Amino acid sequence: MRVLGIETSCDETGVALYDTDAGLLADALYSQVALHAEFGGVVPELASRDHTRKLLPLVDQVLADAQLAKQDLDAIAYTAGPGLVGALMVGACTAHGMARALDIPVLGVHHMEGHLLAPMLEETAPAFPFVALLVSGGHTQLVDVRGLGDYRLLGESVDDAAGEAFDKVAKMLELPYPGGPQVAALAERGRSERFRFPRPMTDRPGLDFSFSGLKTHTLTTLRQLHEQDAFDDQAQADVARAFEDAVVDTLIIKCRRALKESGRTRLVVAGGVSANRRLRETLDIALTKLGARAFYPRGRFCTDNGAMIAYAGAQRLIAGQHSQTLQPRPRWPLA
Ligand code: KG4
Ligand code: ZN
Repeated sequence: MRVLGIETSCDETGVALYDTDAGLLADALYSQVALHAEFGGVVPELASRDHTRKLLPLVDQVLADAQLAKQDLDAIAYTAGPGLVGALMVGACTAHGMARALDIPVLGVHHMEGHLLAPMLEETAPAFPFVALLVSGGHTQLVDVRGLGDYRLLGESVDDAAGEAFDKVAKMLELPYPGGPQVAALAERGRSERFRFPRPMTDRPGLDFSFSGLKTHTLTTLRQLHEQDAFDDQAQADVARAFEDAVVDTLIIKCRRALKESGRTRLVVAGGVSANRRLRETLDIALTKLGARAFYPRGRFCTDNGAMIAYAGAQRLIAGQHSQTLQPRPRWPLA
């Protein structure tokens, strides 16, 4: 079965073609980063308009790359939510229109299910069951994954998502949008000994997260540096490093706790923040000590992409599901 995957939930237009026998045949991504950069964040209406412009050319590109025609498609999967409603609508209408014209099944996929299954596209794919740490711009969640669609929420952020905190700290540090990768790059030059930021909610039991206090702590540190006239390039890098260390440490403490409590030995880490190099390196060391192992998507499938939607859709279609209605779901809990 050849499944076309369409992702338009936020600021990336992603299209991919997944074959249930041959694997991923092609994938293409158009990022709207440059469009939103001057506004310092995603402008929903501009995002929708840009998806409209780019989606069909990307579908053509993916089919051409795979040397296939649209008549060779067996099904279409699209991100039905959560996300920006106008952006979701572009993918939903395109998917349903194409499926109707081609007389093939169509399926709305949960964006976070796409993220959590993304490591399955790799050669060393994790087997069920596993614990998933979903860390993106909109979500920070720990989920116990017993099988496809069998998810139990173990914990989540009570305020900002980890990626959102990275983006907000980037603004404080006067780094361009999108902030996460910029903060990470700056932290490479930072020294971890200079500042020690708090590890929120790690001193009490439970698997929830909170990143908003860490953001405030960063702001207070920056204000003090400015007041003391001590803010320079090195101080900027040291603050980025202290913030990144605190986020990474906090995520790892909760992952270890989730693995211990659930008895699982496999951890999937997915979503934009899973691209973070320090998170991966530190987590791998921590999990080895526990006798557990982490699985990640390849770099370009950490952030939003069409391949994860094509893959998740294919698994759901194999399980006999498809959509009857065109229904974007801007808010849609995973579990
Ligand atoms: O999964 P994603 O592409 O979109 C959402 O579903 O939200 O995640 C985007 C988020 C942004 O907040 C971005 O700053 C963050 O992932 N991010 C990173 C890194 N790369 C992307 N955060 C920290 N380090 C990175 N290397
Ligand atoms: Zn995402």
